Amino acid sequence: MRTLARAASMQSQALSWRRSGHKIALVPTMGSLHAGHASLITRARKAVGPKGQVVVSIFINPTQFSPTEDLASYPRSERSDITLCKRRGANALFLPRLDEIYPDTNNVPFSTYVTEERLSQSMEGQSRPIHFRGVATVVSILLNIVQPTHAVFGEKDFQQATIVRKLIRDLKFPTRLVVSPTIREPDGLAMSSRNTYLTRRQRPHANILWRCINTARKAVRSRTTALTAPMLKRKLTRMIESTPEAELDYIEFFNPNTLIPLRRIQRSDRIALAVRFGKTRLIDNGKL
Ligand code: PAF
Repeated sequence: MRTLARAASMQSQALSWRRSGHKIALVPTMGSLHAGHASLITRARKAVGPKGQVVVSIFINPTQFSPTEDLASYPRSERSDITLCKRRGANALFLPRLDEIYPDTNNVPFSTYVTEERLSQSMEGQSRPIHFRGVATVVSILLNIVQPTHAVFGEKDFQQATIVRKLIRDLKFPTRLVVSPTIREPDGLAMSSRNTYLTRRQRPHANILWRCINTARKAVRSRTTALTAPMLKRKLTRMIESTPEAELDYIEFFNPNTLIPLRRIQRSDRIALAVRFGKTRLIDNGKL
């Protein structure tokens, strides 16, 4: 596995792979890799085949964190990340420094941003107003550097994946989006780098998000409960309120293509929610 730190060397390596007919799959990450990321690397290999090139990028992207969020304390584990990428058979690791992604040019700071204006309005976009501008910007930069035929994103960040799909279409990147299923702990908690922040007291309760998804799913499938979003939200809010240390940020029922919040719910819709445990904010989502 090659490790590249410079944007220019990564891009010229990628262009040379593309000229010689290789497919390239990009797995963009912020490091602190776990079994969920490992499954994205495996999915990337499946997408491009044994002769394709799988590139994992690790970059903690400051523009997607607001000043009150956890940028400074975001977990870092570079050594074990490198081992995981090697073991999973990645061909290259792109590990840029901050000024490789956001350089000054002729003494003018980085000043070009990408904004998706519709799908980023709800849910995470409402709770974290600058988040998706940062994601769309860094993903566009990474797509230009790595020139991937495929980009692999986790379904755990469903809104992010939907926004990236739109970005790829709107800006005509020649890249296919691959969305890979959420990997869960045995008790249902979705794998996330932020799970490491949970205290020993909080951890047993952290699968409340998964329990809410299942309760909503059962209600929709059995049709025993009247299926309006406000009613179901009230039921799930009570479940969260009775969970020690849990504090609800949002619950939303939405159409998976438009991400527009719904009142009447159908089986083809999705639920997403965000719950805080102290300083730790967890998100999850699922099909109904
Ligand atoms: O999902 C993430 O880890 C990040 O949002 C991403 C896509 C790597 C962009 O920084």
